[in-house]
Amino acid sequence: MIGSRQVSAIGLGAMPMSTAGHMPDEAQSIRTIHAALDAGIRLIDTADAYTPSHTDVGHNERLVAKALASWGGDADSVLVSTKGGHVRTPSGGWARDSRPEYLFQACDRSLKALGVESIGLYFHHRPDPEVPYEVAVGAIKDLVQAGKVQAAGISNANPEQMRVALEILGDDLVAVQNEFSPRFRTSEPEIDVADEIDIAFLSWSPLGGMGSASDLGSDHAAFGEIAAAHGVSPQQVCLAWQLARSPRIVPIPGASRPESILDSVQAVDLELTDEELGRLNSGK
Ligand SMILES: NC(=O)c1ccc[n+]([C@@H]2O[C@H](COP(=O)([O-])OP(=O)(O)OC[C@H]3O[C@@H](n4cnc5c(N)ncnc54)[C@H](OP(=O)(O)O)[C@@H]3O)[C@@H](O)[C@H]2O)c1
Repeated sequence: MIGSRQVSAIGLGAMPMSTAGHMPDEAQSIRTIHAALDAGIRLIDTADAYTPSHTDVGHNERLVAKALASWGGDADSVLVSTKGGHVRTPSGGWARDSRPEYLFQACDRSLKALGVESIGLYFHHRPDPEVPYEVAVGAIKDLVQAGKVQAAGISNANPEQMRVALEILGDDLVAVQNEFSPRFRTSEPEIDVADEIDIAFLSWSPLGGMGSASDLGSDHAAFGEIAAAHGVSPQQVCLAWQLARSPRIVPIPGASRPESILDSVQAVDLELTDEELGRLNSGK
C-alpha cells in the first residue's frame, strides 16, 4: 500500500526513456511501459524534470500519459508518481527551486502533462538550500489541500527532514524516495525511519543507475554469484534483496526496454535464504 493505493511490490522508473543519449524512440518507450503494466506493475515514477532537454520539460510525464491512454487495461489502477522542485539547465544539468510559487507552477504544469485533475502521488524532488525545508513542504501541503495532489512524498530527504515533513503533512505523507543500491547503501537510516513512521520507501537507481546497472553482477560479486546459483540475473537478486530488507521498500528500477522490466519484475518471486541475505548485506 502507498497511502490508500494498492501498488505492485516493484515500480517502473521512467527516467531512462527521457534521458539524452539513452532514450529509445517513442514506440519502444510505450512498449516498455505497456510491458510493465501487462506484467502487473501498478506504480510508474516520473518527474517534470525527466526530459532530454530543458526546452522539453514534462517530456517523460507526457510519455507516461500517452502510454497509459493507449494501454488496454484499467489505467485508474495505476499510481503515477511525479515530482517538482528540480529544474533543468541549458547545459543539461540540474538546478533546484523549492520556492512555493515555483512548486505551484510546476504542479499545474505536471497536471497538464499527465492529463489529470489531481496527481496520485506528488514528491518534493530535492531540498533546496535557498528555501527552508518547512516552507517547501508547506507548499506541498497546500497542493494537497487544494485537491491538486492526492498524496505527498519527499525525495532525497534525511531522517531529520523526514520528521519535519511528517509534522507538516501528517497522514498525507505516504512515501520517501531516496537512492539505495548495492553501491549506495547509506540510506539505511532513512529506511529505518520509513519503517518507524510507516511510509513507503521508494529506492531510486536501485540497480546502481543507468550507467552501472548492467555491470551489477561483476561490480558486486556476491550479487553475481548468488544470481548464478539461482539461474537468474544479478539485477533480480538485487531487487529481491531490497524487498527482503523491509516490507516498505518499493524499488523503482528504470527501464527503456521491455526485456529489462520484464526481468526485474520477476524479483517479486525470488526467495533468498538468510545466508544469502547476510552475504548481500555484508557486500562480500
Ligand atoms: N528522486 C530522485 O532524485 C531520483 C533520481 C534518480 C532516479 N530516480 C528514479 O529512479 C528510477 C530508477 O533509477 P535509474 O533509472 O537512474 O537507475 P536504475 O534503476 O538503477 O538503472 C536503470 C537501468 O537499469 C537497466 N535495467 C533495469 N532492469 C534491468 C534488468 N533486470 N537487467 C539488466 N538491466 C536492467 C535499464 O536498462 P535499459 O534502459 O536498457 O532498459 C536501465 O537503463 C528512475 O527511472 C527515476 O524514476 C529518482
